[in-house]
Order: sequence, then structure tokens, then C-alpha cells
Amino acid sequence: MAFVNEDNITDLAMQRWGTAHSPRTAELMSAFVRHLHAFAREVHLTEEEWAAAMNWLAATGQISDEKRQEFILASDVVGLSMLVVQLNNRFSEQATPATVLGPFHIDGSPPAEFGHDMAAGIEGTPLFITGTVTDTEGKPVPGAVLDVWQADADGNYESQLPEIDEARLRAKYQAREDGSYCVRTIAPRGYSIPMDGPVGDLIRTTDISHFRPAHVHFMLEEPGYQKLITHLFQEGAEYLDSDVVFGTKDALVVPFVEHQAGPSPDGGRLDRPFLHATFDFVLEQKS
Ligand SMILES: [Fe+2]
Repeated sequence: MAFVNEDNITDLAMQRWGTAHSPRTAELMSAFVRHLHAFAREVHLTEEEWAAAMNWLAATGQISDEKRQEFILASDVVGLSMLVVQLNNRFSEQATPATVLGPFHIDGSPPAEFGHDMAAGIEGTPLFITGTVTDTEGKPVPGAVLDVWQADADGNYESQLPEIDEARLRAKYQAREDGSYCVRTIAPRGYSIPMDGPVGDLIRTTDISHFRPAHVHFMLEEPGYQKLITHLFQEGAEYLDSDVVFGTKDALVVPFVEHQAGPSPDGGRLDRPFLHATFDFVLEQKS
């Protein structure tokens, strides 16, 4: 075996990691080592910078728990999450485009009936989101599950409110026989990503806007179709063109139309003004 020097260390490290028992792990780790070494060479990484990076990574792990995912946030703000979404969700033109999952999704949201108010008891302007779930040929996808979650009118998610121990502003709706769905909630607000951790510390050293435009998250699942993780954004919202996690797409921006008190899209009546957004989700069939 050759002794290590600056010229051969990359090849040696790649050879070692190339022995991973799974061919895919070997491929991933060899490429990771190669790019990591190239990065260090390109910027001539100093020992102080290396130590700062190790401490930053440690802090990112330490602040994470089952509700807070600082590593996902880190991946989001450098554009890695959105790049991975683009690489893996090359749907056809007709299908609804995917965007980032984000760090705030919580598994196991409670099931909700058509028109259920997932914001019951929470301050905010009522918002209805209605439409259909179809395949790319326009056929309804009855039974498709729409897992919906969002921030409240202060821009906070359930996971950011430690005193909350029941599902808040999240629910799983289901498309009806004709593919129709109806979500009742409150208007979300644009919000800052969490700035009280290592990601925030890094962002503060730049001119990056740390805000996201107002949006509601959706995850649609139905056997036989590609899982769709996406958002709907409010047309005209602030930060649409500077989304800190690179998640905004034209096709996902919809008007939140103002309505006066009166008949509401769930078939009932509302005694105060409300907003109504319509969006037809189109799922890509699995090949
Ligand atoms: Fe969000």
C-alpha cells in the first residue's frame, strides 16, 4: 500500500470507500469523498475553517429532535432539497409539480371529512381550498389522501409550539368518488425559517432573505400513482421571488379570492368574509 501524500489521498480514500458492500453505497461514498476533497482543495480549507464546520455540524445535530429537523433546513437553504426534488420527480407536463417537503411535516395526521375545519378554534381568516384530484388523463382519483399542513397566522408550525401536544393545523383529507376535495383552514402567512439555530447563524452572515412566501403544504398519496409532495402559494404574497428554500413554482401559485359572508364552498354558510382558493391536483401514474 502506498503511503499517503497530498496527491494520492483522494484516490486512496475513494478506494477504501469503494469497498462498501452495497454497490450503491460504494458509488455514493466514492463520489462524496472525491467532491469533498475537491472542495477542500479549491478553497484551500484552513484548519480553523474545518474546525468551525465540525462545530457547526455538531450544533446542527444537537438542536435537532423528533420535531425539529435542522439538517433538513440546512439542506433546504443551500438548494439541495429542491435539487433532489427536481431530480426525482420528473413528472409529465400535465402533472402537478412537486416541491420541497420542508422540516415541519408530522406523520400520522388525523383523518378529516370533506370540508372539515382543520383550524377550528385557531385565529385567522377562514380559507377554503377546493378542487379535484385526477390522473393525467383527467380521470378522478377517488380515495386519494391529501395530507395537509401549514403554519398559523403568526407563521408558526405545530412543531415550533412546544406546549401543543395534539394535531394542530394538519389533517388528512380524502378525495371523493368524483375526485373532489374540500379543505377548510385559515390563511397562512409568509414566515421566517427558524433563525435561532446554526442555520440562522449562518444566514445572518449573508444578505439572504430568510422568509418563505405564504403557502399550504400538501402530500398526496394513492396506490398506483407517484407520491406528490407540493405546496400551494398565495398569489401576490410577499417573498414569492426570493423563497429561502427555492420552493416556489409558477404552476403552484393560486389566487386566494375574497368572498363576503354567505354560502361557502363546503356547502354551508359562513357569517364572516372568507378566502377561497381552487386547485386541481394531477397525479402521475406509476409506470
Ligand atoms: Fe411551510
